[in-house]
Amino acid sequence: MRVTTEQVTGRREKNGERAVEFAEAEEFVRQCQAEGVCSGERPARRLARIRAEIERTGTYRHTTAELTFGARVAWRNAARCIGRLYWRGLRIRDRRDVSSAAAIARECVLHLREATRGGRIRPTVTVFAPDTPAAPGPRIHNEQLIRYAGYELDDGSVLGDPRYTAFTERVRARGWRPPRRRGAFDVLPLLVESAPGEPRLFTLPRDAVLEVPLRHPDHAWFANLGLRWHAVPAISDMPLVIGGVRYPAAPFNGWYLGTEVGARNLADAGRYDLLPAIAKLMGLSTASERTLWRDRALVELTLAVQYSFDEAGVTVADHHTESRRFLDHLAREERAGRRCRADWSWIVPPLSGGQTVVFHRYYDEPDPAQRPAFVPPG
Ligand code: ARG
Repeated sequence: MRVTTEQVTGRREKNGERAVEFAEAEEFVRQCQAEGVCSGERPARRLARIRAEIERTGTYRHTTAELTFGARVAWRNAARCIGRLYWRGLRIRDRRDVSSAAAIARECVLHLREATRGGRIRPTVTVFAPDTPAAPGPRIHNEQLIRYAGYELDDGSVLGDPRYTAFTERVRARGWRPPRRRGAFDVLPLLVESAPGEPRLFTLPRDAVLEVPLRHPDHAWFANLGLRWHAVPAISDMPLVIGGVRYPAAPFNGWYLGTEVGARNLADAGRYDLLPAIAKLMGLSTASERTLWRDRALVELTLAVQYSFDEAGVTVADHHTESRRFLDHLAREERAGRRCRADWSWIVPPLSGGQTVVFHRYYDEPDPAQRPAFVPPG
């Protein structure tokens, strides 16, 4: 068993303080080679240089080809993601040399603009500096680049997204001022910590945040609810780990699956909790579970999300099509001699599970030690 700094000193081990394990670099370089990624020199030579670099500095610098391949494979390894068929299409923005908090925030804005493309969403990752023994890399404290504030009201209810009440408090304590008229969809500022430094706040410019107002193809009243959602899900708090090197800030995005918004974000009791209101507007009795009002409202809400995104020309997937594509991906991976690990409870959509092909089978269990990977924050 490896003894951690914490066990020795009682301190929590900071990745930034520890040298890269050569074995992890070696495993990655061999994988690059096995999958035909050329770093411009023979693997033995590349490994010798990496070994020398680690001995000298405690870390090593990935080539552009290695970084690109590593980030793409991290996506391929994401056991919870149903959209992995497109892993080779991930666009990498190499920003390892950007260091000030302001410059990092600027790059996040550029990331959003380039990934959004007016609605033709492009899977993109921006990689900032890694942790090194000399200094930790920067951090983006937001869970996603675009999220909505949650305000706790005096009566105990929440205006906005209840998932972000604590984060909203945190940025307010640091000086963020909500809009004068607070709403249910106020975009939160970025909280960026450069290496090393105090976290700083940055407001996202309006035109960097594409949003879709929601309406329903058949129910005119739906639009009056004033619902909307942002076009791009860009996770910003999961470190990217490649060949022993940890990049703590590496925001990445794909495009939405309608169910993520319609059957979770807007529907979950701990989020916008909109099913009771929608069921009532549909004329359903919410007095008994046996009218299946939840189920009926859930379908219409998800349909509204999909319809509105389509009408706005914003990329969005549906769970039936994406489920079939995932099984295509699985078959492709097997043909390439790889096992594709998957977390059933995340892969199966939260709506009509049994009507999608991904429901009717099991998958190789996720392996938390698999690398490269986007790893849990913290
Ligand atoms: N479920 C998360 C959300 O609703 C986003 C997770 C990533 N999703 C994606 N389609 N890439 O915000």
